[in-house]
Amino acid sequence: MSLRLVVLISGSGSNLQAILDACGQRQAGRHADIDVMPAQVVGVLSNRSDALGLSRAARAGVATATLAHTDFADRAAFDQAMIAVIDRWQPDVVVLAGFMRILTPAFVQHYSGRLLNIHPSLLPLHKGLNTHQRAIDAGDVEHGCSVHLVNAELDGGPVIAQAALRVEESDTAETLAQRVHALEHRLYPAVLGWVANGRLQLDTVPPRLDGQPLTTPIRL
Ligand code: GRF
Repeated sequence: MSLRLVVLISGSGSNLQAILDACGQRQAGRHADIDVMPAQVVGVLSNRSDALGLSRAARAGVATATLAHTDFADRAAFDQAMIAVIDRWQPDVVVLAGFMRILTPAFVQHYSGRLLNIHPSLLPLHKGLNTHQRAIDAGDVEHGCSVHLVNAELDGGPVIAQAALRVEESDTAETLAQRVHALEHRLYPAVLGWVANGRLQLDTVPPRLDGQPLTTPIRL
């Protein structure tokens, strides 16, 4: 059986693209002849109609929806509308990939144990924005990205896996952003592949990999 993924985006969607590629969904229709994970993106939701990721989804033949948060009275109403759209796609996992809205506890609770996010830092370091500049300012020798379960605390849920690089003296926020992005494109598909292959269980506390409680993040 194929794991059903719904991906939430706000922008470029390069992580979405990496996931589509890993699912064999680069163009419309699945490609049975290449080695892909048993997962498929069944829907992509954006809060911005100009998000480039929407055209990536369309090219792959994946259903899309846009809900402008500005059309709703408050966060609660927006999140309820999102739940209605997302649930029609019957996701096993909801994947936040550059989705730039803070979610309400009700939304997080609704998808408890099946809501993942990717964050461009080695959590718990540098929660929030401008992570690359903050890593440089802090003199970090190592920087990277994390895939974590989402809970009510911003960038605060259990970290599943991380990928890291060495910060070079010549690095700027821009070069780090680029290099970390490349790591993200390996990390997210890897984690989703473990879920799809039944190795990683997200709905237990703590999550389990190969039956063992995951007490420290996996390093790629
Ligand atoms: C990534 O850096 C991700 O870590 C952060 O938002 C960015 C999304 O990039 N949450 P993209 O839209 O997938 O290219």
